[in-house]
Amino acid sequence: MEERNNKTTPAVAVDKGLRSWGAFVVGLVVALILGWWVLPNLMKVTKEQPIAFSHVEHVQKQGMTCVECHFVRADGSFSGAPTTAECAVCHSTVQGKHPEEARFVHDYVQTGREIKNEWLIYQKQPDNVFFSHALHFGPLAELKDPKEIAAYCSTCHINVAETDVPPVYRENRLSGYSENTMLMWDCERCHAEHMAKGNTVASNACFTCHK
Ligand code: HEC
Ligand code: HEC
Ligand code: HEC
Ligand code: HEC
Ligand code: HEC
Repeated sequence: MEERNNKTTPAVAVDKGLRSWGAFVVGLVVALILGWWVLPNLMKVTKEQPIAFSHVEHVQKQGMTCVECHFVRADGSFSGAPTTAECAVCHSTVQGKHPEEARFVHDYVQTGREIKNEWLIYQKQPDNVFFSHALHFGPLAELKDPKEIAAYCSTCHINVAETDVPPVYRENRLSGYSENTMLMWDCERCHAEHMAKGNTVASNACFTCHK
C-alpha cells in the first residue's frame, strides 16, 4: 500500500499542475483577445465616404496634380478637401459610365448639396489641437512627382492618394476620434528632431499645439 501511494501522488500532482497551467494559458489568451481585439473593435463605428472618390482615377489616369484640389490660399489657410463647385468644374453633367460619378452629379451637383461638409477626414484632430498645413509644407517646395508628394503627406496621413477606393473610416464611439488620427507623441517626435537641429518654431511647448 505505502509503496503504491508513493508512486501515484507525484503523478497526480504533475497532472493537476499541467491542468491549471492549461487553464491559465487559455484564460490569458481569452483575456488578450478580449482586451486587444474584441473590446477595441466594439468601441469603433465604421462610416463610409459620401462618394467613393478615387485618387488613382484622377491623379494617375487623368493626370491631375495634388494642388489642383489641395492648395494653400494666399492668406495661409489650407483648402482641405474639394467643394461640390470645385468638382463640378468637370462634373457639371455626367461624363462617364461610372455609377458613382452619376450619383455624385445627381445627388450633389444638381441639388447644390455641399460635399465638403460630408467628407470624412481620416486625420481629423480634436478641437483643442491647432494645426496649420502652410507651416508644414516647406519640404514640398522641392517635390514635383505625385508619388513623392503623396509620400510626404503620408508622414502624417494614411496614403489615400494612391488608393482607388477610399480606405475604411473608423471612429471611436466615445471620443469621436478617427482611428487614423496622428497622436501627440507622433507630432512631438518630429518637432523634437527639428528642435535638435536648431529649429525653435517646431516647439514642443504645450501652447504650440493647444491654444
Ligand atoms: C479636371 C477634371 C476633374 C475634376 C476637377 C474632378 N474630376 Fe472626377 N473625373 C474626371 C474624369 C475625366 C473622370 C473619368 C471619366 C468619368 O468616369 O467620368 C472622373 C471620374 C470620377 C468618378 C468616377 C470614378 C471614381 O472616381 O470612382 C467620380 C465618382 C468622380 N470623378 C468624382 C469627382 C469628385 C467628387 C470630384 C471633386 C473632389 C472630382 N471628381 C473632380 C475629371 C475630374
Ligand atoms: C480631383 C481632386 C483631388 C486630387 C487631384 C487629389 N485629391 Fe486628395 N482628396 C480629394 C478628396 C475628395 C478627398 C477627401 C475624401 C477622401 O479622403 O477620399 C481628399 C483627401 C486627401 C487627403 C486627406 C486624407 C484624410 O486624412 O482624410 C490627402 C492626404 C490627400 N487627399 C492627398 C492627395 C495627394 C498627395 C494628391 C496628389 C497625388 C491628391 N490628394 C490629389 C480630392 C483630390
Ligand atoms: C505634419 C503633418 C501633416 C502633413 C505633412 C500633411 N497633413 Fe494634411 N492634415 C494634417 C492634420 C493634423 C489634419 C487635421 C487638421 C484638423 O483636423 O484640424 C490634416 C487635414 C487634411 C485634410 C482635410 C482638411 C479639411 O478639414 O478638410 C486634407 C485634405 C489634407 N490634410 C491634405 C493633405 C495633403 C494633400 C498633404 C500633402 C501635400 C498633407 N495634408 C500633408 C496633418 C498633415
Ligand atoms: C514631419 C515633421 C512634423 C510633424 C509630423 C509635425 N510637425 Fe509641426 N512643425 C514641424 C516643423 C519643421 C515646424 C516649424 C516650421 C517652420 O520652421 O516654419 C512645425 C511647426 C508647427 C507649428 C507652428 C508653431 C508656431 O509657433 O508657429 C504648429 C502649431 C505645429 N507644428 C503643430 C503640429 C501638430 C499638431 C502636429 C501633429 C498633428 C505636427 N505639428 C506634426 C514639423 C512637423
Ligand atoms: C506638437 C504638437 C503638440 C504639443 C507640443 C502638445 N500636444 Fe497635446 N495633443 C496633440 C495632439 C495632436 C493631440 C490629439 C491626439 C492625441 O490625443 O494624441 C493632443 C492631445 C492632448 C490631450 C488630450 C488627450 C485626449 O485623449 O483627449 C491632452 C490632455 C494634451 N494633449 C496635453 C498636452 C500637454 C500638457 C502638453 C505640453 C506638455 C501638450 N499636450 C503638448 C499635440 C500636441
